[in-house]
Amino acid sequence: MSLPLWTLDAFTEAAGGEVRGDAGAEISGISIDSRSLEPGDAFVAITGDRLDGHDYVAAALEAGASVALVSESRMSDLPEDGRYVVVDDPLEAMRQLGVAARARTDARIVAVTGSVGKTGTKEALRLTLEQSGKVHASVASFNNHWGVPLTLARMPADTDFGVFEIGMNHADEIRPLVKMVRPHVAIITTVQPVHLEFFESVEKIAQAKAEIFEGLEPDGIAILNKDNRQFDLLKFLASTSGVSQIHTFGEDGSADSHIENVAGFPGGSSVDARVLGQEITYKIGATGRHHVKNSLAVLTAVSDLGADLAKAGLALDAMRSPKGRGEVSRLPVTGGEVALIDESYNANPASMRAALAVLGESQVTPPGRRIAVIGDMRELGANADRLHGELSKPITENGIDAVYCAGPHMHSLWQQLPQELRAHYCEEAKDLEEVLLGDVRPGDVVMIKGSLGTRMGPLVEALKNEFPPADDSAAA
Ligand SMILES: Nc1ncnc2c1ncn2[C@@H]1O[C@H](COP(=O)(O)OP(=O)(O)OP(=O)(O)O)[C@@H](O)[C@H]1O
Ligand SMILES: [Mg+2]
Repeated sequence: MSLPLWTLDAFTEAAGGEVRGDAGAEISGISIDSRSLEPGDAFVAITGDRLDGHDYVAAALEAGASVALVSESRMSDLPEDGRYVVVDDPLEAMRQLGVAARARTDARIVAVTGSVGKTGTKEALRLTLEQSGKVHASVASFNNHWGVPLTLARMPADTDFGVFEIGMNHADEIRPLVKMVRPHVAIITTVQPVHLEFFESVEKIAQAKAEIFEGLEPDGIAILNKDNRQFDLLKFLASTSGVSQIHTFGEDGSADSHIENVAGFPGGSSVDARVLGQEITYKIGATGRHHVKNSLAVLTAVSDLGADLAKAGLALDAMRSPKGRGEVSRLPVTGGEVALIDESYNANPASMRAALAVLGESQVTPPGRRIAVIGDMRELGANADRLHGELSKPITENGIDAVYCAGPHMHSLWQQLPQELRAHYCEEAKDLEEVLLGDVRPGDVVMIKGSLGTRMGPLVEALKNEFPPADDSAAA
């Protein structure tokens, strides 16, 4: 029988709370959402911007929570016959649980930050490290002030490898999180103009990402992207934070881990690389040069964590782009099929370029075309129009045949696009639907991308409803 995640005693002590009512002696998981809570989980009542977890305590207890971690100040609102651990501040208590979970484990820990590619890199680390031991990794993009402590508090004591995504929108957000995580290895995937609304410059973003060095364990290793424009600054900031070991990855042969040769195939890439001096050949089951670059950081970390590099390389074959982040579907249409690349989850200049490059690499069968359906990239502040307009270059360079644009900022791009590439422009994404559904034809490859708030996702759904894919999960 496996050990419980927490005994009630250890949980209560770590949370610094007091038990009230008939709480279960063992806690099998931690939940902050009564809808997804599994019987035996502890429910932590977190107060967010919109919702207060205390309003869902009754539902959590009903769903079988072993105990609810709640605030003393809210006790009078909660069911009298409930099972509680009572504290002043449940979020702070969850942080303390995270700190205690980290302290009790011998796991080797890796933390991932960067402007793009955190979740993809985290999932690839999960896949590769699972070949060498028991892995605990963040769910989805749980990378913020509650996501990181929640992930820590959920880490079983007998974990061999812990994988943490750490994100930020502002300076000073990463520092307290990484000090809880205390990684042995920290990866910065890349630093790009993302969330510029909240930063004066890309250098300021690099400085905020560099906070990750402040939580590295003594003798910890920083893994940095040598191709990134911010590399020199990050390297300098790493050394001023006392980081003694830096491993670099990139295209160039001078990087500690670098690409020797890449060949694309439908649905992925074959890579020859040198990882910290070791030759390795592997396949990646997701399309795009960005995945190849991220894989170098992944394999470097695998090696630095003492896991099996060869097994890790083999595991990358099973990597897939998730829904909204490059998932490919094949849609049957009269006379053939359309390939749909769903990038609708989010967008910024870096990931937009990566997605346009994937579209550029896609095989098209004439009379099929490479079609980009792209919506506004948000949070770019005063530079937004310029950054949208600059997409004209990667669009022409990647041989895109037709562009559909949605959103006020995309108008800047629309005006700069060569006439023959302009398919349709609308202020709102939903107004592209009818035109797009009428225009697609056999052989087309359609890539749909924009910030979540631009609502490009419904266009993906509309295409899938009109032309239902035989197997939704099929990779191209
Ligand atoms: N190294 C990279 N360079 C450019 N684009 C990338 C890179 N890695 C991933 N991407 C693109 O960025 C998108 C987002 O990837 P991912 O979800 O891994 O990023 P994230 O950093 O976790 O984002 P979030 O901040 O939303 O959590 C993907 O659709 C992918 O196409
Ligand atoms: Mg993420």
